[in-house]
Amino acid sequence: MKLISKFSEGLHGEIKIPGDKSISHRALLCSSISEGTSKISNLQESEDVINTLKSLKQLGINIIKKSDSYYVEGKGFRGLKESEKKLYFGNSGTGIRLMSGLLSIQNFSSVLTGDESLSKRPMKRIIEPLLKMGANISGSKEDTLPLRITPSKKINGINYKMPVASAQVKSAILFASLGAQGDTKIIEKSMSRDHTERMFEYFGASISYSETETKLKETEKFTSQNVEIPGDFSSSAFFIVAALISKNSDITLKEVGMNPSRIALLNKLREMGGDIQVFNHSSFGKEPIADINIKSSILNPCEVSPDEVPNLIDELPILFIASCFAEGISSFIEIEELKYKESDRLKAMQEGLNKMKIKNFLDGNIFCIEGIGKDYKAPNFLAETYFDHRVAMSFAIAGLNSNSYIEIASPESINTSFPEFIELGKKLGCNFEIC
Ligand code: S3P
Repeated sequence: MKLISKFSEGLHGEIKIPGDKSISHRALLCSSISEGTSKISNLQESEDVINTLKSLKQLGINIIKKSDSYYVEGKGFRGLKESEKKLYFGNSGTGIRLMSGLLSIQNFSSVLTGDESLSKRPMKRIIEPLLKMGANISGSKEDTLPLRITPSKKINGINYKMPVASAQVKSAILFASLGAQGDTKIIEKSMSRDHTERMFEYFGASISYSETETKLKETEKFTSQNVEIPGDFSSSAFFIVAALISKNSDITLKEVGMNPSRIALLNKLREMGGDIQVFNHSSFGKEPIADINIKSSILNPCEVSPDEVPNLIDELPILFIASCFAEGISSFIEIEELKYKESDRLKAMQEGLNKMKIKNFLDGNIFCIEGIGKDYKAPNFLAETYFDHRVAMSFAIAGLNSNSYIEIASPESINTSFPEFIELGKKLGCNFEIC
C-alpha cells in the first residue's frame, strides 16, 4: 500500500483531534491499579494504545467499551493476574516501558515482546534503574526484547539521576515505586513530559514535581476516576505545520492538550513567524487544553537548543519539514535521541530531505537544514518511511506543497498513533489518496 500526497490548494475548517497517546497509556494503567471502576473518554484508539489495553485484559483487568467510553475495573497496585501468554506491545516503547515498571511489583512472572522495530530499541535505560530498585528484570544479551520479569522479594524507592531525559524511563520508575518501600526521587537534566506525575496526582498519589525533579512518597492506593483525554498535541503538530506552509489556509483544532512539557513546537513555530492563536483555555483533569487556530505564514529559520529537545522530541521530524519552507539555515543541537525512536529518525528524515533536494548536514552533534522559503515545492519522489508513523506523516505533509505529489511507503504505520490522519486531513482539504 502507498499514500499519495498531492499538492493542495489550501486547508480550511475545524476538526477535533483524537485523544493523546501518552495520556491514553497512562489512563489505562492507572485505572487498572486503582480501587473501583474508572471511566475513560476520548481514549486514543491507535494500535499502540490498543496493545496496552489488550495486555491489561490478559493480566486479568476487565475493560469494556460502552458508547464512546471505556470502563476499567481497577484491582489495586498488586492486583494483576499472571498471563499465560507473552505480552505483546507492537510498536510501542511507551506501552512496554511503563508496563515493565508495573509488572516489576507483581507476584508473578511475565515476558514482554514487540514488533521488529521495538525489538531493536534500547531497554537498558529501564533495566538499570529497575534492577537498582530490587526488581528482577532482564532483556537479551544486547539489553533488547524480550524482557523477562520475575517476582522480587522487595522493591525499594530510589534516588535516581537520569542519564537521558526520558518520560518513559521516569514513568517506569514511578510505576515500580508504587509497590516500593520508601520514597522515590528522580532528577533529570531537562524537562521531559510530566503526564505520569499529573495522572498519579489525579488518582491520589503523594507526588510533587517541578521541571527537573519528581518526588513520590509511599502511596497506599489509587482511587478510581473519570478521565477525559485531551487531543494529542503531537498528532496536531502535522496539521499545524500543514496549515502554516500551505498558502490560503486557516484551520482550527479543538480541545488539544496544552501541557507545557509538550508544546515547545508551538512556541518554536511562533518564534519562526507562525500565525498561531491559542484560545478557549480549559482543562481535562490535571491536563490543560485549548483550541488552536493556524493561518498560512511566512516562516523564518529556527534554532533548537539541547534543553528544548525532550519537549520537542516527537515533533522534530515535522519541524524539519517546516524548516524547508523557511528561508535560511535552521539548526538542531544534540538530537541523537532521534536515532532510538520507532526508526532511526535522523537517518530516515535525512534520506527524505535529500530526495526533496534540501541541503542538510550533520556536523558533530549539530544538524542543519538549509530551507528554501515560502515558494519551495518538493519534487516528486517516493519517501521511504521505515515503517515509522511520524516519518510517514511528515512526508505526507511535505507532499501538500510539492510540484505535484510525494508517494509515501508503508502508510499503515500511521495507525500506530493516528488512524484518523488521512480522513481528518482530507476533511481539512489535504489531497491524500491511498493506492
Ligand atoms: C513518551 C515519551 C517520549 C516520546 C514517546 C512517548 C511517553 O519518549 O518520544 O513518543 O509517553 O512517555 P522518551 O521519554 O523515551 O523520550
